[in-house]
Amino acid sequence: MKELFGIIGNPIAHSLSPLIQNEAYALHEINAHFQAFHVEHEDIETAIKGMKAIGIKGFMVTVPFKAKVIPFLDEVDPIAEKKKAVNVVQLIDGKYVGFNFDGEACLKALLEDMNRPSLQKEHILILGAGGAAQSIYYTLSQFEDVHIDLANRTLEKAEALKELGANHRHTKVISLDEAENNQDQYDIIIQTTSIGMWPDVGQSPINITQLKKGAFVSDIIYNPAETQILKQARRNGANTQNGIKMLASQNALSIEKWTGQKVNYQKMIESLTEALR
Ligand code: ATR
Repeated sequence: MKELFGIIGNPIAHSLSPLIQNEAYALHEINAHFQAFHVEHEDIETAIKGMKAIGIKGFMVTVPFKAKVIPFLDEVDPIAEKKKAVNVVQLIDGKYVGFNFDGEACLKALLEDMNRPSLQKEHILILGAGGAAQSIYYTLSQFEDVHIDLANRTLEKAEALKELGANHRHTKVISLDEAENNQDQYDIIIQTTSIGMWPDVGQSPINITQLKKGAFVSDIIYNPAETQILKQARRNGANTQNGIKMLASQNALSIEKWTGQKVNYQKMIESLTEALR
């Protein structure tokens, strides 16, 4: 009998995870099927109980349930607990355990496209302080020597985010204006806000005018494939990356977690690029 995996969210109809997960199962001969489930806000607890009752071995969690699922899981791993957000759940010994691979997926995508094994003393700017920024900042704050500036419209949220990396010596909270004015200081800029996402494609949290030579700019948005900030960065000579690789990486990490199978991640990137065209 096939195993069943899935993703819960609201809205979820346009999720591309079913496409790339099912393709990966076929490619790697994993006897399973992946299904997207639209869950109403008030039904989240019932949905999780139901998934357990019918034996779903693992599921992904997306907007708006990453924090809301936590009270209904049996356990949450320490990283997800710290980030207060879960993006992958696995049934282990009859218990639903929550994990968070968002930061890891972002880091993996970043290092691959920068062609580097690790981070050292880079000056990094993170734009935004929402859920996505939390996971990414937490992961990056594990690198002691990098300098991280957190820029957000609401400074209090960036201050709260800084607490997540409590022991990180080189984190600073700045305004979006300061980030824009000092953009030539950064080796890496990571855009995590929703600004520039389809249909508001002309917008950008900061105006890129003069980047540091050799700067790398990453946007976690994948629709459109090139946001305004990436367009400006590319014209300014930077190497850029959109969110497709991070999305593929999140899915690859979840399959690896559930089945132990390493999947062909390049194929996922190709399928996502094609589907989004
Ligand atoms: P996610 O979980 O996807 O990160 P979120 O938690 O709602 O989403 O966070 C959205 C981020 O985009 C926040 O950093 C938000 O800034 P505020 O904390 O000031 O709200 C940022 N953001 C969204 N729209 C924005 C806008 N028009 N101008 C500036 N920042 C914006």
